[in-house]
Amino acid sequence: MCGIVGYVGKKDCTRVLLDSLSKLEYRGYDSAGVAVFENDGIKISKTKGRLAALEQKLKREGWINGHCGIGHTRWATHGEPSDINSHPHTSARVSIVHNGIIENYQRLKGFLEKKGYEFESQTDTETVAKLLDFYFDGDPIGTIGKVISEIEGSYALGIMFSELPDTVYAVRKDSPLIVGIGEDEAFIASDVPAILKYTRNYYLLDHEEIVVLKDGKASVFDKHGIPIEKELHTADWDMEAAEKGGYAHFMLKEINEQPTAVKTTISPRITDGMPDLSECGMTTEKLAAYKNIFVVACGTAMHAGLVGKYVIEQLARVPVAVEVASEFRYRNPILSDGDLVIVVSQSGETADTLEALRMSKRLGADTLAIVNVKGSSIAREADMVLYTHAGPEISVASTKAYMVQIAVFYLVAFELAYAKQAISEEECRRLTAALAAVPELINVVLQQAEQCKYIASKLVNASNLLYIGRGLDYALSMEGSLKLKEISYIHSESYAAGELKHGTISLVTGSMPVIAVATQRELFDKTVSNVKEVKARGAKVIFVTHAYKTVESDVADFKIALPTTDDILMPIPAVVPLQLIAYYTSVLRGNDVDKPRNLAKSVTVE
Ligand code: AGP
Repeated sequence: MCGIVGYVGKKDCTRVLLDSLSKLEYRGYDSAGVAVFENDGIKISKTKGRLAALEQKLKREGWINGHCGIGHTRWATHGEPSDINSHPHTSARVSIVHNGIIENYQRLKGFLEKKGYEFESQTDTETVAKLLDFYFDGDPIGTIGKVISEIEGSYALGIMFSELPDTVYAVRKDSPLIVGIGEDEAFIASDVPAILKYTRNYYLLDHEEIVVLKDGKASVFDKHGIPIEKELHTADWDMEAAEKGGYAHFMLKEINEQPTAVKTTISPRITDGMPDLSECGMTTEKLAAYKNIFVVACGTAMHAGLVGKYVIEQLARVPVAVEVASEFRYRNPILSDGDLVIVVSQSGETADTLEALRMSKRLGADTLAIVNVKGSSIAREADMVLYTHAGPEISVASTKAYMVQIAVFYLVAFELAYAKQAISEEECRRLTAALAAVPELINVVLQQAEQCKYIASKLVNASNLLYIGRGLDYALSMEGSLKLKEISYIHSESYAAGELKHGTISLVTGSMPVIAVATQRELFDKTVSNVKEVKARGAKVIFVTHAYKTVESDVADFKIALPTTDDILMPIPAVVPLQLIAYYTSVLRGNDVDKPRNLAKSVTVE
């Protein structure tokens, strides 16, 4: 939800801001803008549309030449995408960029209007620009301190005061912000990829800390102006990881990175053939003591939790409730000391998941985060963290993050099942070895990209689609359906195959293709019966199952043949064709695959 950047150094600031913003466009892309100190003050250029539109505008109307500035790429919350609502927002003496939501902006706006301030945009952000102006008394840190004690909500703010040239100030609460440290240059950014072209070193800014970028250096203070020493972090992936590397889209690259991502995530957590989660402080004894497990997440991460639920319950016989974070946090859930809450998040910044985590801690549960982004808010606030080592996921549609999230759930389930003595050591070793072998299976499925493209060509004109499955295959269907919806804009629903005839089958006609997933052998015949029912009503069926299973023509029009492993691990190979079908359908419809409409990668507002 919006990307912000800032730069102080010797380079062409406008160029640096545009380059850095291009790595944050996944966070929002309905408008963009920059503010740069030029000789005679702050100059601003902003426009509705993508970053490319801003660059064209700058070339057309005049490049802003300077060495210090801030920039923004927007995902609209307050006010439609328009030139006026684009950031930076200003007052007489202040220019700001903002990621987050100011919840009490209406009240503050009313107050400022009474003081004579006039507003031109519909945004919440403009209120902060005016409030900074109202309090500004020549002391920037004191002013920022006063303003953050009045605003409510979430924010990462990049700020410039026109009376304080060549200096950028920034502050955050509940929205991410890092401080890049280069040679004679310093940056602020919403995420690490924005700075990787220039440096891999960065500080993580904590809540309400204020950073000052000046003379190519960064200094951090608390809101009272007391200097703070920060630990320097080094990004463990480089520019290449954040580039497309020859692939047409980040999504395709990320789908293809899944074998490596799984390997990198699970290998360090297998010791002598057994799962080992001790790195995060999770001992076997501790695991064995949990009575209830809750998995709380949003979107694809929540779907990974559904796979986790099936696997944990099946193997360890511990009840697992999977909850959508935006519901969980407001429904006063019954949590207590002996419970474990697992929060799952690629970005580690999802507002609802973060708040659900905080609430769970308040209610006394132990919290474990499965997170991809190092140093993210969720990673920092959870009691225990298991990082998924997927590298940067840039495409808005999550693929490799889902894959590594489920890989971690398998490790948790195996260790828990063994800790509870629900499976023997021998069985635990067998399952762990099977998990370690799955990257090869993913590679086998990736070879079927052309077939998935062909199937996509048959779906491209559909208006509606159904995904069906039973058990783990139902959990997987939900993810397949979401993937298709978000990037192809074709409406689809996922259904428990056995539930269809309780209503939804009335929708099935020749123009409603059905993707049926049947990898669970115990349920295979049942699913086949359900598939025959939709086939009998004219649906074209794409049937995803084990390669060795014979599928008659009265069951399926197309078969996707999966390599076989233990049934419980089948979601790993089975999700790949669902991702590829969604990807190619989106490509064939001419959509912007990596930046689907109305979406953003990191949902830092509720
Ligand atoms: C995935 O394709 C989606 N874009 C979305 O559902 C995403 O998984 C969700 O917003 C959660 O994000 P997180 O993993 O960063 O918390």
